[in-house]
Amino acid sequence: MGEITNVMEYQAIANQNLPKMIYDYYSSGAEDDWTLKENREAFSAILFRPRILIDVSKIDMSATVLGFKISMPIMIAPSAMQKMAHPDGEYATARAASAAGTIMTLSSWATSSVEEVASTGPGNPFLHLYLCKDRNVVEHLVKKTKRAGFKAIALTVDAPRLGRRETDIKNRFVLPPYLTLKKFEGLDLPEMDKSNDSGLASYVAGQIDRALTWKDVKWLQSITSLPILVKGVITAEDAKLAVHSGAAGIIVSNHGARQLDYVPATISALEEVVTAAAGRIPVYLDGGVRRGTDVFKALALGAAGVFIGKPVVFALAAEGKAGVRNLLRMMREEFELTMAFSGCTSLADITRAHIYTDAERLARPFPRL
Ligand code: FNR
Repeated sequence: MGEITNVMEYQAIANQNLPKMIYDYYSSGAEDDWTLKENREAFSAILFRPRILIDVSKIDMSATVLGFKISMPIMIAPSAMQKMAHPDGEYATARAASAAGTIMTLSSWATSSVEEVASTGPGNPFLHLYLCKDRNVVEHLVKKTKRAGFKAIALTVDAPRLGRRETDIKNRFVLPPYLTLKKFEGLDLPEMDKSNDSGLASYVAGQIDRALTWKDVKWLQSITSLPILVKGVITAEDAKLAVHSGAAGIIVSNHGARQLDYVPATISALEEVVTAAAGRIPVYLDGGVRRGTDVFKALALGAAGVFIGKPVVFALAAEGKAGVRNLLRMMREEFELTMAFSGCTSLADITRAHIYTDAERLARPFPRL
């Protein structure tokens, strides 16, 4: 293969490099994969209204996330078990994020330890949390990660159970025996069981608290001073509850289409959530972000930044840390170009008027001036 010119090209390389069970785990959506396709296609239904003859010789892409200054509004979502993609796993991802001046979120099911990730330089890693039934385990983990220098928690709220990922069921997916879930090392937790349909699904069933409610968000606040992002909100109703719960921010996410199929694309749900949050807390987005143009569209619809999931594990499988670094570089360059073409020199310049949706185009072809 010649030079890689966009982040999507890493998927084909990952497919070649990885055993089928692992590639399938990384790439699959739930059930019919409707939402998986929609997460991408919905971006195509948003078009630009670029402004011209604006001096774009200097463009500032820097963003502030929960008080932390980063080089661009593009961050890394938590993706589990990255050592299946590359021996350096999350450690490589963290180093690439740190070199790019952005934030990496470390999955609860990481195969690198919090200490390894924290040792990667001047980054501001975020911890991702699934709330286990055993709250002592959660408390232990949160305190350990805070001590290690983690700056915020992304609490996943869309996974009381694991989505039906049929390839994982067919492959009887389990973590390969040479790897461990490092955050839980030393704690007395059961291993994934290969004899079940999907070892992961039954592991989740055993560990994750299905009884999770908003009161647990409060409980989490009571055991840590770290800001909490609620990850997995896609409705106005829940956005309002997130604001009331004292969350520091919302991540509009459908878990990369791996949970409930036939939920809308996150980019389609974003504006409803942003409107409901009413500027009281920042709203971020993940799901299908593959181009700098996607980042711009999300910001125009009110997101304060985006997170990227699958391309990171694919780039890791292709080229390790260099792959993730290259991915972040390409996304940055594309985003900068989109800003330049749109006449925006800072994130604050990006407005709703820079884009329109298919529905708006049909309803009202020209703006009233
Ligand atoms: C995920 N995602 C995820 N989310 C989460 O809250 N905890 C986790 O442990 C994981 N693990 C995970 C593994 C893999 C292989 C993937 C692909 C995804 C979901 C992830 O954080 C994010 O929401 C989506 O991946 C974003 O969508 P894209 O960028 O993959 O389209």
